[in-house]
Amino acid sequence: MRMYDLINKKKNGSELTSAEIDFMVCGFTDGIIPDYQMSAMMMAIFFRGMSEKETLALTNAMAKSGAMLDLSAIDGIKVDKHSTGGVGDKTSLALAPLVSACGLKVAKMSGRGLGHTGGTIDKLESFPGFTTEISVDEFVKNVNEIGMAIMGQTNELAPADKRLYALRDVTATVDQMSLIASSIMSKKLAAGADAIVLDVKTGSGAFMKDEKDAVLLAEEMQRIGTNAGRKTVALVTDMDQPLGFAVGNALEVKEAIETLKGNGPEDFVKLCVALGAQMLLVGGLALNQNEAEAKIRAAINDGSALKVMADFVKAQGGDPDFVYQPEKLPAANIITPVFAPESGYIEKIICDEIGHCSLILGGGRVTKDSIIDLSVGIVLSKKIGDPVSKGELLANIHGNDEAKIAAAKARLLGAYKISKSPVKPPVLIKKNIGQEFI
Ligand code: URA
Repeated sequence: MRMYDLINKKKNGSELTSAEIDFMVCGFTDGIIPDYQMSAMMMAIFFRGMSEKETLALTNAMAKSGAMLDLSAIDGIKVDKHSTGGVGDKTSLALAPLVSACGLKVAKMSGRGLGHTGGTIDKLESFPGFTTEISVDEFVKNVNEIGMAIMGQTNELAPADKRLYALRDVTATVDQMSLIASSIMSKKLAAGADAIVLDVKTGSGAFMKDEKDAVLLAEEMQRIGTNAGRKTVALVTDMDQPLGFAVGNALEVKEAIETLKGNGPEDFVKLCVALGAQMLLVGGLALNQNEAEAKIRAAINDGSALKVMADFVKAQGGDPDFVYQPEKLPAANIITPVFAPESGYIEKIICDEIGHCSLILGGGRVTKDSIIDLSVGIVLSKKIGDPVSKGELLANIHGNDEAKIAAAKARLLGAYKISKSPVKPPVLIKKNIGQEFI
């Protein structure tokens, strides 16, 4: 087999076989196929697309390019959840303890963030001493004993995707639906769960700005998961404004803890209940939607999810007291209020811009080696649809540097648009995909 012939075949619009895709992925991972040939192939795929069969073959080949996590030592059905990411998306922090308190085993691999705000691991490091650098044996032991564990994504997980993504990033071939879907799903398949719940975000703070594209991506990933033998469902959810009120690492941890205590923001609670219900359903721990949702709400009301959170933090080196007293978590020195410049109704909050405010304050990474300030961020007071009077609080900026706060304040004011007429808040859960597979 020659890579030249495969590029030519794809360029001419023919379907690649699974053996050809395996050859290409293995050769690229081993450094035998050079970047320039793989770049040409990515561009050919960008213009010609990939069939369902080709997309599954690419996903499987990338998943198998490194270690496949074996979770068979964990009893019961293991369910993973993946979000395509957004501003203020602290869902895993609350969701994992919630479903775990309902009896589901959560063995989750997470990453760090680049840009906007931190990833789940950065947020969890707000607990002093907490680590996600644990061995697979410890990971499995914690899931069996506590019900949940989160470990950092290792370099051995789908290395072909890591190399290929870096190449796509510099050859303008990231934005191809089958390539995105196979990239995300290869990591999910390698991470070993039996079932997968996907949260595909859409809106001004999402990777997929357009709802139609988000639905196509969700459908494609759902198909890949199902064809790969994992029960997979997806929700398409709103990211046209930050999720909840808090944006920033420790601030989001506090909001997740408050949610487990029953004091969460309405949209965030609704999303946790919806995703949690899907996880219980695919995991076989509830017979129908109503029962699943009731179990999640009960785990908030009886304090069991909060206890799982404390046990989990302790097992991974953190101080569980911080869960019960979140005021001990890192806090910024300066809180600067931002007031509404006019009266009306909140029409728009450019979500990416709020993420950038957090980045300016030091809450996100500019390069992969940046050190982030866990204490900084924004706490919104007003969301889309809320009435507001001139001079009323829009948000509080939590920062440690006056110049950065001033820059963030200007950007935050520019992110809000106020209308004179009433505005409907965005629909949070836009589409539910794959229910027939539950
Ligand atoms: N996230 C990924 O992991 N892969 C892509 O291709 C795009 C977003």
